[in-house]
Amino acid sequence: MEEILKKIPFFADLSDSDLQAVISKIQMQYFAADHEIFQKGDPGDIMYIIKRGQVQVIRDNAILAVLKDGQFFGEMALVSDEPRNATVKTVTDVEALILKKDDFKNLLETNPSIASIVSFEVVKRSNALF
Ligand code: CMP
Repeated sequence: MEEILKKIPFFADLSDSDLQAVISKIQMQYFAADHEIFQKGDPGDIMYIIKRGQVQVIRDNAILAVLKDGQFFGEMALVSDEPRNATVKTVTDVEALILKKDDFKNLLETNPSIASIVSFEVVKRSNALF
């Protein structure tokens, strides 16, 4: 797991002890191609980092984004306590790393570099909502 995380830019700046802490919380999940991971309006308590594969972010029948290796999704419901603001569906088979809400929030609190990556994306993605 350590080698996997070190190759993902999201985790690149973690100290060894923080990396070990994340490893103890993170889980791998596999999805087949063309599978809906969650729907807009669902409650959310997990965020996903794509290790390998592609997903589509869909709202109102429009594809807002295609996310791939190293990118993440599902963070917005966790930081805003709102339901999922878009549907996410796999395009290819996907290997994802998943973190639960409390562990993700803890990671943001203890790692300013990850917090800044996440807040940058949240602001950019929120702007696309309006
Ligand atoms: P969340 O609201 O938890 O669930 C839907 C996810 O889609 C959201 O978190 C973001 O991770 C992602 N998302 C929403 N809007 C965009 C966008 N404009 N570009 C890329 N990803 C998005």
